[in-house]
Amino acid sequence: MRILVLGGHGFIGRRLAAALAADGHEVQARSRRDGFDLADLELTRRLLTGLRPEAIFHCAAHVGSLHYVSTHAAAVFHDNTQMALNLYRAVAEVCPSARLINPLSNCSYPGEADVQREPEWLHGEVHESVLSSGNAKRMVYYLARCYAKQYHVRTLNFLVPNAFGPGDYTDPTRTHALNGMIIRMLQAQRQGRAEFEIWGTGRPLREWGYVDDLVAILRHSLTLETDLTYPVNIAQNRGYSIRESAELIAKALGYEGRLFFNASYQDGASRKVLDDHRFRQVFPDFRFIDHEEGIRRTVEYYRSVL
Ligand SMILES: NC(=O)c1ccc[n+]([C@@H]2O[C@H](COP(=O)([O-])OP(=O)(O)OC[C@H]3O[C@@H](n4cnc5c(N)ncnc54)[C@H](OP(=O)(O)O)[C@@H]3O)[C@@H](O)[C@H]2O)c1
Repeated sequence: MRILVLGGHGFIGRRLAAALAADGHEVQARSRRDGFDLADLELTRRLLTGLRPEAIFHCAAHVGSLHYVSTHAAAVFHDNTQMALNLYRAVAEVCPSARLINPLSNCSYPGEADVQREPEWLHGEVHESVLSSGNAKRMVYYLARCYAKQYHVRTLNFLVPNAFGPGDYTDPTRTHALNGMIIRMLQAQRQGRAEFEIWGTGRPLREWGYVDDLVAILRHSLTLETDLTYPVNIAQNRGYSIRESAELIAKALGYEGRLFFNASYQDGASRKVLDDHRFRQVFPDFRFIDHEEGIRRTVEYYRSVL
């Protein structure tokens, strides 16, 4: 199959493009580093006209930490919306039969939801801290529906939890949360520090997605016939406390310092997990990698590149 991975040099896009190529697909990865800007409609039309993709994974995004998406709220909302608008318009004009696959984020759930269930996805405002990124993802869903109605463009939407795993940035201020903790604890170990500080009590439960699991599910979507315009969670319905994850990282590293949970920092929501009922209907046989093994592989990766 001819496949285009937009944002194909990012954390998820790069591993996805490599996996698809290994499956024997004809894969093209594009981002601004290739001179392609999805914010430019004419460039987008030209790219699709040249490649005529049969499937497009939209992994291009303007994202960052919670602090970043708040302080750059207008730019984050504008850029992600602009990219999606251009993509749908160009697909409708050039290759309307292409299958579009969007990794949406579970930050687009209502801020209050501690168990994130698809039927309640749009039943409430996103948390103020993700006003820009969460609502831009919701907008992609409405765009998908409108383009399905008028142009019969087919979209599969996935609600993806926070990812971790090999291949993310090596700067702890740019990586995703769990990878950032791995990098910082590795640095603490190398500097011989006797204590590693973690903000908050360590009690909040969070669900994580190992990058190769996410990639495997996105790959599988190429052959799915289920209608996933309305998104499905990529879900295990299993949270790990920050403390559990920190202890697994320390174990994988062999870090012997004390883990100090600084409770003077706020915890945030006590629990954020994704309900997996619908996921299990769509992917009944999928087996997620064990969390400890995912952390072990990620630790090995950062040891090898830092
Ligand atoms: N990672 C997670 O924890 C997570 C969780 C839930 C959902 N998601 C979603 O999954 C997708 C991929 O995430 P990720 O973590 O792989 O992000 P990432 O590492 O930041 O990668 C984003 C990619 O988008 C490209 N890009 C940005 N602006 C562009 C533009 N104007 N034109 C073309 N390409 C552009 C970037 O490359 P250049 O700078 O070279 O353009 C980069 O390759 C995003 O939609 C994200 O919201 C991710």
